[in-house]
Amino acid sequence: MKTKSKGSAALSTTSPTTSPTTSPTTSPRVAVAIMAAGKGTRLKSQLPKVLHEVGGKPLLEHVIRAAVRVVPVQDVFAIIGHEAERVRAATQHTGVNFVLQTEQRGTGHALMVAADALAGYDHVIVLSGDAPLITPQTIGRLLNFHLDERAAMTLLSADLDNPAGYGRVLRKSPRGAEVKAIVEEKAASAKQRKIREINSGFYVFGVKELYGNIGKLSTANAHHEFYLTDMAGVLNQSLRGAQQRVVAWKTANASEVLGGNTRAELADIDERMRLEKCRQLMADGVTVFYPATCVIDVDVEIAADTVIEPYVQLLGKTRIGAGCRVRSYSVIRDSEMGDGVMVRPGCVMEGARIGAGAVLGPYSHLRPGSEIGEGAHVGNFVETKKIKLGKGSKANHLTYLGDAEIGEGVNIGAGTITCNYDGVNKHTTVIEDGAFIGSDSTLVAPVRVGKGAYVGAASCITSDVPEDALAVGRAQQIVKPGWAREKRASRKK
Ligand code: UD1
Ligand code: CA
Repeated sequence: MKTKSKGSAALSTTSPTTSPTTSPTTSPRVAVAIMAAGKGTRLKSQLPKVLHEVGGKPLLEHVIRAAVRVVPVQDVFAIIGHEAERVRAATQHTGVNFVLQTEQRGTGHALMVAADALAGYDHVIVLSGDAPLITPQTIGRLLNFHLDERAAMTLLSADLDNPAGYGRVLRKSPRGAEVKAIVEEKAASAKQRKIREINSGFYVFGVKELYGNIGKLSTANAHHEFYLTDMAGVLNQSLRGAQQRVVAWKTANASEVLGGNTRAELADIDERMRLEKCRQLMADGVTVFYPATCVIDVDVEIAADTVIEPYVQLLGKTRIGAGCRVRSYSVIRDSEMGDGVMVRPGCVMEGARIGAGAVLGPYSHLRPGSEIGEGAHVGNFVETKKIKLGKGSKANHLTYLGDAEIGEGVNIGAGTITCNYDGVNKHTTVIEDGAFIGSDSTLVAPVRVGKGAYVGAASCITSDVPEDALAVGRAQQIVKPGWAREKRASRKK
């Protein structure tokens, strides 16, 4: 794969620059490579590892988001392989470049196949596509440390209480920055396994030093793979006497480096991410009761003075205004709410837009395309789909409203149903401002109820009702005096 135009590295992570650079002494050219080609065997899943979600987004997307805050997106390369097309399809909206690692022969091999893509850069930051808690600040500090140390390889390390499963960092001396080697868990001696300083799987390499020596990696290890971690030992051998070194920079925030290799690790990362999201929301003035019970995706936006009760799920691109209350057991996806909306318990919403001051639930089901007007009410066991319910209109009980345009100040009686589907096509019901639909009415679309009109209870409306008219479409009631008494009397004989 050919590299695209290079931007300069953003050493200050807050203000990435995209201007092209010519002088390497002032601005080294820095790329980010994200290793994302692995299968994720330990997940026992059909879905490739980096597409497993935490905080409502694929692992890889979180890593890409951090990367593009450090270097311009055209300098980010995702190395994909297992189910490559699926991974590409899920993440190409981010605009990153992709490098194909057709056979996955280890993390070292992943960087081997990226050689052409990275040839035009001075340094490459290597990230793991399965470690989504990494922050741009930490990546930026790692890069700065690498440049200050004039290192050939800099690795990000962390002290973990439970280092099991991670590679361990063998420092040359306890206090020095220099690293002798990284030893993988499986190859580590009992003594080495006691080391709590782990290799995070995040690195910065000088491109020249990496590709000048990557050919020296071998597959003489437990997995018969090329380990990128072995570059520490390889560079120490090759660069002996040279100025350039292998160093480690330890982050104080150990949780940033956690990888999601197993379902249990994914659950742990997801929980940390969502608690952090709740903390941010609370800092912005949102009340979240019992945050540990709420599932709030990372992109959800909520304005101040809104209250989120326990056991609520807010998913996808949901946006909630100020002063709303979302009561327990509601699941809300990709929906927008104005200010002062009351969502009573147990509502399910997807792709809905709710005007300010509306009251929903308990147990309302708002499906995609539901637009609920300001101050409107949608009550218990009401299902809506692709409808407009005007300002102040009410559908309070046991109703299905699909493919309908309903005006302002309309009252929809209990048990009303829009018959929108004739078995082949969907048709629209129009109910104009101020109309009153009696309980248990069926409106057979296409049909229109005019402004201020009345529909008598239990009517089956099959033709348009003019403005201000009353339509009653039901069988005439028959009354037979004494019928019941006679029936009872006849049974006694
Ligand atoms: C790796 C490190 C280990 C470190 C840990 C931190 C190696 C040999 N070990 O172990 O020292 O403590 O990360 O999380 O590197 N990948 C590819 N192509 C491949 C193989 C893997 O792109 O051929 C990708 C995977 O999709 C994954 C990343 O590289 O995103 C890391 O691979 P993984 O198998 O998870 O390595 P670990 O066993 O976690
Ligand atoms: Ca991993």
